[in-house]
Amino acid sequence: MLKERIESKKALVGVIGLGYVGLPLACAFARKGFRVVGIDRKKGRVNSVNRGESYIQDISSHELSGLVRKGLIRASTDYNDIKECDVVQICVPTPINENKDPDISYIVATSKKLSRVLHPDELIILKSTTFPLTTKEVVLPILKKSGLTMGKDLFLAFSPERVDPGNKKYTMRNTPVVVGGIDETSTELAYLLYERVIGKVKRVSSAETAEFTKLLENIFRNVNIALVNELTMLTDRMGINIWEVIDAAATKPFGFMPFYPGPGVGGHCIPIDPYYLSWKAKEYDFHTNFIEISAETNEGMPYYVANIVISALSNTGVCPKTANVLVIGVTFKRDVKDMRDSPSLKIIEILKNKVAKICYSDPFIEKIDLQNSVYKSLPLTGKTISKFDCTLIITDHSSYDYDFIVQNSKLVIDTRNATKMVKEGRDKIVLLGGGILSNKR
Ligand SMILES: NC(=O)c1ccc[n+]([C@@H]2O[C@H](COP(=O)([O-])OP(=O)(O)OC[C@H]3O[C@@H](n4cnc5c(N)ncnc54)[C@H](O)[C@@H]3O)[C@@H](O)[C@H]2O)c1
Repeated sequence: MLKERIESKKALVGVIGLGYVGLPLACAFARKGFRVVGIDRKKGRVNSVNRGESYIQDISSHELSGLVRKGLIRASTDYNDIKECDVVQICVPTPINENKDPDISYIVATSKKLSRVLHPDELIILKSTTFPLTTKEVVLPILKKSGLTMGKDLFLAFSPERVDPGNKKYTMRNTPVVVGGIDETSTELAYLLYERVIGKVKRVSSAETAEFTKLLENIFRNVNIALVNELTMLTDRMGINIWEVIDAAATKPFGFMPFYPGPGVGGHCIPIDPYYLSWKAKEYDFHTNFIEISAETNEGMPYYVANIVISALSNTGVCPKTANVLVIGVTFKRDVKDMRDSPSLKIIEILKNKVAKICYSDPFIEKIDLQNSVYKSLPLTGKTISKFDCTLIITDHSSYDYDFIVQNSKLVIDTRNATKMVKEGRDKIVLLGGGILSNKR
C-alpha cells in the first residue's frame, strides 16, 4: 500500500526537473532516507548529479556526493527510470512568453511523458508555480489517459515550492509546506509525505486553493515592492529619504512589514508569477488591477534608474555620450548566482546606447551574453573602479567593500542603500530614494 510505503519511507520518490527547486527537493528527501530518482532533460545536469557535483549554490557537492554514494540519489534523462516510483514530484519551469502569457508547455510535456510510465497506487505532485486549476484542468486529464482511476489507484496533488535560493535562515528544512489534492486521499497522502520530510504541513481543501496560495504569496511581494518603488519616485521629488521613512515605519510592532525599493524585480518568480493569475482571471471577466499597476511600476524602475545615471553624470559635468559606467552586481538579488530576469541586464540594455562604454563586475557571474555583446566581469580593484565616470550599484552582494568602492569612485549611484554605513565621500553618492530630484536640495 502506498500509504505504508510513505510512512515507512520505503516509497521510491521521483523528481522531474533538477533545477533550483528540484535538486534541493531531491536532496531534502534523500537526507531523510528516501531513495530518489531525478529526471532532467539536460544530460549535463544528470551527469553532474550522478558524479555528485552540484550546480546549485545552496547544495554542496560534498553533501550531494555523499547522498549519491549511499545510493539515495541517482539521475537519468529517461522517464522509464521513474517507472517504479511510488511518488513523482514535477518541478519544471513555468515561464511567460513575449506577450507575458503563461507558458505551461513544460508541465504539459512532462505530464504526457509521465502518463506513459504510471502504475497503480502512485501519487503525483505538481510543484511548479502555475495558475489555479492547472492541476485539475490540465494535468489530471493527461494523467487519466494512462487508464488508471483517479482517487482509486492514482492520486494527484499540488504543493507549491517556497524555496528562497540564498536564504540561510529559511530553507526547505524549516519552511512549512502547503498541500491540496484533487480529492481527500490525495491530500492525505501528500500531507503524510511532506510531514516525513519537512515537518510542518498545511492542508488545504483543493489543489486550486494551494495553487492560488502560492500566487498570493508572490503577488503580495510584487505589489508591496511596487508600492514602495512608487513612493520612492515621490520622495525623490520631495527631497525625503524613503529608506529613513521605511526604517522609521518598521519600528511599529504591528500592521507594517518593511519592503525596500530597488532597480526592479528579477528572478524566476516575482516578475512572472503575477501574470499567471492575471491571465487566468480574464476567463472570469476579471481584471487584476493591482497586478497590472505593480508590473507597470516595477518594470519602469530600470528606466528610472537609467535616467538617474544620465542626469547624475550631466550634473557632475560629464557628457553621458562620452561616459564610462561600471555596473556593480548583475545577479537578480544579493549573494545568489542567478541572473534570470535581473534588472541589471535591462539597465545595461537601456544604457548601452546612451553612454560610451558600460562594463560590470560580479563575483558570481564571469561572463554575460546580451544582445550580441559579450561582457566579462572586471576585477573590483581601485585601479579599475577609478577608470570609470560612474559606479552603479545594482546588486548589493555582501562580499563588497562599500567604503573601498566609494573611495575609488568618481560618482556612485546606489540603488540598494548599500552604502548606508559609508562615512567618507558621501557627497559622491546619489541614492535611489534619497530625495535626489528635489530642487530644494
Ligand atoms: N527558483 C526558485 O526560487 C523557485 C521558487 C519557488 C518556486 N519555483 C517554481 O518552481 C518551478 C521550477 O523552477 P526552477 O527555478 O527550479 O527552474 P529551473 O529552470 O532551475 O529547473 C527546471 C529544470 O527542469 C528541466 N526540465 C524542463 N522540462 C523538462 C522535462 N520535460 N522533463 C524533465 N526535465 C525538464 C530543465 O532542464 C531544468 O533543469 C517553476 O514553476 C518556478 O516558478 C521556483
